[in-house]
Amino acid sequence: MTVQSADPALYPHALSESTVKTLRRPLFGHVIEGETVPALDGATMPVIDPATGIRTATAAAGTSDDVTAAVRSARTAFDDGRWRLLAPLEKERRLRRLAALLAERADLFGEIDVIDAGLLRGYTTFVVDGAVAGVEYYAGWPTKLHGTIPAVPSEFAVYEMREPIGVIGMIMPWNGPTFVLGFVAAALAAGNAVVLKPAEQTPLSAVLMAELALEAGIPPGVFNVVQGLGETVGAALVTAPEVDAVSFTGSVATGSAIQAAAAARVKRVSLELGGKSAFIVFPDADLEAAATSAAMGVWGASGQVCTAATRVLAHRDIRDEFVSLVLDRSRDLRLGSGFDPATQMGPVVSADQLARVQSYVDIGRAEGAELVLGGERHGDVGFFHQPTVFTGVRNDMRIAREEIFGPVMSVLDFGSEDEAYAIANDSDYGLAAGVWTENLSLAHRASRALRTGTVWVNTYQMVYPTVPYGGVKLSGHGRALGAAALDDLTVPKSVWMKVGS
Ligand code: NAI
Ligand code: MG
Repeated sequence: MTVQSADPALYPHALSESTVKTLRRPLFGHVIEGETVPALDGATMPVIDPATGIRTATAAAGTSDDVTAAVRSARTAFDDGRWRLLAPLEKERRLRRLAALLAERADLFGEIDVIDAGLLRGYTTFVVDGAVAGVEYYAGWPTKLHGTIPAVPSEFAVYEMREPIGVIGMIMPWNGPTFVLGFVAAALAAGNAVVLKPAEQTPLSAVLMAELALEAGIPPGVFNVVQGLGETVGAALVTAPEVDAVSFTGSVATGSAIQAAAAARVKRVSLELGGKSAFIVFPDADLEAAATSAAMGVWGASGQVCTAATRVLAHRDIRDEFVSLVLDRSRDLRLGSGFDPATQMGPVVSADQLARVQSYVDIGRAEGAELVLGGERHGDVGFFHQPTVFTGVRNDMRIAREEIFGPVMSVLDFGSEDEAYAIANDSDYGLAAGVWTENLSLAHRASRALRTGTVWVNTYQMVYPTVPYGGVKLSGHGRALGAAALDDLTVPKSVWMKVGS
């Protein structure tokens, strides 16, 4: 098996030694019971760098047999208590060690995510820092997760414990591969065991994360990884009888299929799905700041972020000025390798995703929206698409209603405050919204009126591990981050005792 990534000609911006060494691995396998292993039947799948279109590594392509082995390992690890029954402070120490190890290897993870997902190196620093912060935050929880003593009639004593759910199947997307470690840490902090299936487009960092957890002293079997396609490995993980709950981030279609499949065994499912977030610019807003934020909000990660600011609602009085400020910040963006510090936007993740973006540009044109920037594939190497802006978009157009997950901004306009809320809320999605105004009362009214899981006022896409993150409507119902995530990862147990009178 040849691995081309270590070829310095391919990465002239110098990979760290540990990344070069990591890419020389012949296979990125599963991690089961503490061992990094190939698929039981030996099948593999290619790992493609989206910036070059070149195969950079090889990953295991699992089947339901591999899922069975990974789930069995996690089940045993959970049931025998090797992690669950460890003293709370000891769990904290090991999770903190995990955070420290990740921080130490930040360059390795940051570089691997660039090669795997096509993200900019600066962006992957943010992703890895976010993962470190997530692990650090949840590392503090094992000593603080406690039950309650309900008020009951005096002949009884009752206590309510908060127990881990068991084996959590985690199915994750490709747009911020290492960020997922924060979610895993939340599940582990609550005492669960995890089987993670990363996206088939980005299988590399999951192996490294599971190996890091072992190094940090998380016992074998507590955090397993199984590689492979969604339709086979992902689906088998959802229906495996010994998986107690499923945590999924990705598309609505897949999330909905997972919830339906999980219903057969009445499993708990936590879904973080897509969005079509409204970014509302009122006429009194700081237009320069709002334009910078809108541009970052949609070109960041080439639009492949669930909270991407893809539905920009600009008040009619300032629309033209605002659009021209956005175009100033978008026209000359430099597209290229995520390793080149001069690059301002990278590729989309795959040939499929590029085709999807192109099809939506065609749809937007056919629907009669006005294309004012971009609209074409960029170059013929890798999977790049030009930053693309449509104006004159109506909210009933598909480019206003459907998640594109690429660098495409749709600009709509509005006249009154109520009209802005009506348009913003007329969406199947409800993940996030942005509000730009200098008027405090208006900001509060907007925050109440918008049906989304998050509202950002005069800022956008802020995340912090203490703050819950998730949606309403088709954007899903689970919460990542914050104490709220732990509610999805624990179950209450009530213990009644008769004490007599
Ligand atoms: P997807 O939702 O199909 O894939 C996400 C994860 O689910 C991957 O790990 C995949 O292997 C797994 N999966 C796929 N089918 C499955 C099944 N039947 N059972 C269990 N697991 C399954 O998303 P995909 O196909 O990669 O991208 C398509 C679109 O989905 C994107 O264009 C974007 O609009 C949306 N998406 C949204 C994300 C978000 O964070 N909001 C992330 C990824 C995709
Ligand atoms: Mg899919």
